[in-house]
Amino acid sequence: MNNKTIFSGMQPSGVITLGNYLGALKNWTELQDEYNCLYCIVDMHAITVRQDPATLRKSSRNLLMQYIASGLNPEANIIYYQSHVPAHAELAWILNCYTYMGELSRMTQFKDKSSKHNENINAGLFTYPALMAADILLFQTDVVPVGVDQKQHLEITRDIAARFNAIYGDVFKIPEPYIGKAGAKIMSLQDPSRKMSKSDEDVNATISLIDDPDTIIRKFKRAVTDSMAKVTFDEQNQAGISNLLNIYTAITGETIKNIEREFEGKGYGEFKAKVAEVVIEELRPIQQKFEELSKDNAYIDNIIKENAQKATYLATKTLRKVQKKVGFPPLIRSK
Ligand code: TYM
Repeated sequence: MNNKTIFSGMQPSGVITLGNYLGALKNWTELQDEYNCLYCIVDMHAITVRQDPATLRKSSRNLLMQYIASGLNPEANIIYYQSHVPAHAELAWILNCYTYMGELSRMTQFKDKSSKHNENINAGLFTYPALMAADILLFQTDVVPVGVDQKQHLEITRDIAARFNAIYGDVFKIPEPYIGKAGAKIMSLQDPSRKMSKSDEDVNATISLIDDPDTIIRKFKRAVTDSMAKVTFDEQNQAGISNLLNIYTAITGETIKNIEREFEGKGYGEFKAKVAEVVIEELRPIQQKFEELSKDNAYIDNIIKENAQKATYLATKTLRKVQKKVGFPPLIRSK
């Protein structure tokens, strides 16, 4: 343990995908023994897009169980719901006042989501990065393991923190992104120019963490490839095959060169079947553990309760410091 802090989170806006798993969750489990870790279910971010309340509640609990089922130890890590720790919202408000409209309007996630949901371009969607900065900065985080698509949000977090520190002294630690070598950008199986996304309407485009083996085999069989008929890593001309190679290497740890060699002279059918097989074997224990956890309500409730308290304790320390720096009057405690 190096005494450094990791913070990361996922939106419970649907069932998480193989992209979320390989780009983030799998790295979290690998880093958990070296760092003090907080892994959040960012339900407050999720409502920037309209959610059905009952579904959101269920997805949030499922996500928490998927964190644990994937190997995160809930005794050693702080796994909690963002909405249970009000300091997130309180710091986000303050940081909003140190974040510029210009920088927010350059965020690609904002541009993407506002074009997809043009009936609901709300202020929360716009100021989303200030809440994300609050998540990270509340815990004096050193490292934030994420997929490539969150890199821009990490940059704005660093800018906001540096701006605040320049005015008030060293209040926030400046966090570093951690982006894994493999799996940091898993693409759609149906359109390998777009990232795999849990909100994709085409079910064949994504592998979900709870897909059963037959579904996984079927989806990989249908995955878009090309007519070059050779398993080589070439993102320009063979984006689909390159994506499958990325998935394979992220799971097995085998080098791309070795995988190319293994499939030299073999057809796409054989390669796809092998990728499906390693994905099925990777997800099998996670799905089994998830089933077990789903039956143990008291255990999960206890994790939710205890971890919210731990996160609140840590977050409040930074929040109080920030409130003092900006000039809010101290609380008067009753004797
Ligand atoms: P979210 O919920 O979209 O995604 C969760 C994590 O999964 C990664 N990811 C991917 N990685 C590889 N390939 C893909 N196709 C893919 N799709 C998603 C994301 O990069 C992310 O690491 N804003 C964040 C949630 C958040 C957060 C935070 C993250 C809120 N506060 C503080 C880190 C720190 C988001 O929407 O992630």
